[in-house]
Amino acid sequence: MEFEILRRQVPGGQSWAVAADRALGRFEHLVGPVLAVDLSTESLRFRADPENRYSVRPMVRGDFPDLIRWVNEPHVARWWDEHRTAEQVEAYYGPAVAGDDPTRLWIWELNGRSIGFGQDYRISDHPDYALLCSRPDAIGFDYAIGEPAYVGRGVGTSLIWVYLRDIVWPAYPGALEFFAAPDHRNAGSLRLLAKLGFTQGLWFDEPQADGRPNTVIGCSLDVAQVMGVNPSTV
Ligand SMILES: CC(C)(COP(=O)(O)OP(=O)(O)OC[C@H]1O[C@@H](n2cnc3c(N)ncnc32)[C@H](O)[C@@H]1OP(=O)(O)O)[C@@H](O)C(=O)NCCC(=O)NCCS
Repeated sequence: MEFEILRRQVPGGQSWAVAADRALGRFEHLVGPVLAVDLSTESLRFRADPENRYSVRPMVRGDFPDLIRWVNEPHVARWWDEHRTAEQVEAYYGPAVAGDDPTRLWIWELNGRSIGFGQDYRISDHPDYALLCSRPDAIGFDYAIGEPAYVGRGVGTSLIWVYLRDIVWPAYPGALEFFAAPDHRNAGSLRLLAKLGFTQGLWFDEPQADGRPNTVIGCSLDVAQVMGVNPSTV
């Protein structure tokens, strides 16, 4: 179900996502949508997965019980060290769900089952963070596969690709960079970003709720190269 394209074979001005969509047409037995498998090397690997449906929908208040459970799962809690009680989740996510905060909150589904969540925002809306990470013009996003049974099976790579391509990319005309900054010890998250075409940049210290700093690694996606120029930007 996989196929590959060499970076040097992608025509100038064409994005990797578009090149992959076009390449899919060469394989009669494959049907889309195209999913990224590993974009970290010269050989760009993609796949089609006709057996599974990866989708993203807006978070609603009815998702809060799942959200509370997910942020308390040990594999998430290790890297997500705040907003854990029902009251904290309500206070932190409630305004965005109600439309009172520009952060956009999403639930990720695999075959209709909610298994994780994400959020995206203009980094310039968070001046303190913009100063810390030095990427004021980028679009930031955070993510977690909350259901432990779905971690480490390649689902995160596929879902976050769909999320970035179908949900984040169309929403921010003019954005040339997507940005996430995992803890430097979060090998799974750093590897996932590399597989989606992100490159590592600045290391910086991010203060946590308890005041303790976490050293994180800024990872950036060249949106024009990987997804293509959003038509609204030209
Ligand atoms: C990070 C996360 C979204 C990754 O999703 P996932 O579905 O588990 O990831 P995938 O199965 O698609 O794997 C991605 C890659 O990371 C690797 N990986 C996963 N966990 C790893 C670990 N603990 N150490 C090293 N590599 C790891 C996988 O092997 C895979 O690379 P490979 O194909 O080269 O083998 C998920 O693990 C998660 O939600 N973690 C908790 C929350 C979190 O850390 N969020 C990010 C905060 S910045």
